[in-house]
Amino acid sequence: MKVLCVGFSLTGKTKFVLNIISKELFGELEMLEPDKPYPKFKGILSTIACSLISLFNRKPKLKSLKHDLGDYGLVVIGSPVWIGVHAPPVSTFVEENDFKGKKVAIVFTGGADYSQGVDALIARLEDKGAEVVLNTYICSGKNKEVIASKAMKFAEELQTKISSLGKIL
Ligand SMILES: Cc1cc2nc3c(=O)[nH]c(=O)nc-3n(C[C@H](O)[C@H](O)[C@H](O)COP(=O)(O)O)c2cc1C
Repeated sequence: MKVLCVGFSLTGKTKFVLNIISKELFGELEMLEPDKPYPKFKGILSTIACSLISLFNRKPKLKSLKHDLGDYGLVVIGSPVWIGVHAPPVSTFVEENDFKGKKVAIVFTGGADYSQGVDALIARLEDKGAEVVLNTYICSGKNKEVIASKAMKFAEELQTKISSLGKIL
């Protein structure tokens, strides 16, 4: 099964995680790029500015994807938590693509220790025909080694899950 890891990352943490997962699963990686980049300031200023922008625009226009989603059986979607939910570029990606017959896994990264926002993303993906097979939340405040080992563990779990589903189908 061909694997595409796709997601959005403002400060690189979600990209770091997706990169590890794509390598572990021999997949490909593509990061979503909004037509109008989000501002990057030091510290809390970026959080405030991007939160305000995302409240006014939940579905920003994205640059075209280089990969064709139709070629992939498993799509791993990565997003930072923004005000409790997935970041707006991920909303645009979900709305603009067809997930019928696709298996999807979700990785959230966030500054706190939990994420409830993943439920909304799962529901929307299922509405669009996806089978969401696994999801995880990785607290990005930890050091890089901890984050990397969590990403690898998730990739292993996903591999096991996909193999067992393959036997059932
Ligand atoms: C606009 C904005 C809103 C955020 N809101 C939350 C939040 O509600 N909960 C949380 O745990 N972290 C929140 N964060 C922190 C990010 O989710 C966290 O730093 C994430 O791992 C960053 O991922 P990235 O480096 O891929 O952009 C927010 C960050 C930004 C920029």
